[in-house]
Amino acid sequence: MRIYQAETYQAMSRRAANIISAQVIYKPDCVLGLATGGTPVGTYQQLVEWFQKGDLSFAEVRSVNLDEYLGLSPHHEQSYRYFMQTNLFDHIDIKPENTHVLNGLAKDPAVECAAYNKLIRDLGGIDLQLLGMGRNGHIAFNEPGDDFGLETHLVSLTENTIEANARFFASRDEVPRHALSMGIKNIMNARRILIVVNGEEKAEAVYQAFCGPVTKQVPASVLQLHPNVTLVGDKAALHKLAEAGETVCG
Ligand code: GLP
Repeated sequence: MRIYQAETYQAMSRRAANIISAQVIYKPDCVLGLATGGTPVGTYQQLVEWFQKGDLSFAEVRSVNLDEYLGLSPHHEQSYRYFMQTNLFDHIDIKPENTHVLNGLAKDPAVECAAYNKLIRDLGGIDLQLLGMGRNGHIAFNEPGDDFGLETHLVSLTENTIEANARFFASRDEVPRHALSMGIKNIMNARRILIVVNGEEKAEAVYQAFCGPVTKQVPASVLQLHPNVTLVGDKAALHKLAEAGETVCG
């Protein structure tokens, strides 16, 4: 695993965007696994800037997103489809038909999840999967205790995650209690993984995930078993790793 520590959120975002950009330049028709949340917003802003300058094109890129809230329409401002449109897709040249986000209004979640697994396989698998991390170590919406063998599935969100994500909604009551999410198996099948973390509130989860044992109680800890993981974070999120003696590049 490579660990890059950046001085600021902006520098962290630029480093993460660099890695994504390199993937797109190396393989223009690559499959990018994309993530939502506050953490990757700066990464997407940097990619948009490079696209606008003419340095980068997403014309042949295909994308699959990690997850979506169950019950939210794609037009709901807190849906992850809306997030992706407003933070990235609307500002770059990716073809709309090449962007894929789970349908939060699917009548039958099991059918939607099975179709998503097939879609990922039909695309040839994910070349680079971008991840954030929840404060409890969750990745996508794979919560503590979820089985590592799961593919895309229906999830009941934990109180911790509902609490953490309430900041995006008018009130805590409006946060959906369920979501559709790629499983750990889909994520681990990606050829490369890029995980971004910032802020002191993530420091303990980062430490547990990368210095602790691999355990279902800390979903991100499974990444220790992946052969190609890059962790990019700011000092606040990475300081416990550095104190534990992990080799951190500047
Ligand atoms: C949500 C998403 C995750 C994301 C996490 C952390 O739960 N499903 O994919 O990593 O939030 O979000 P943030 O970056 O806002 O801390």
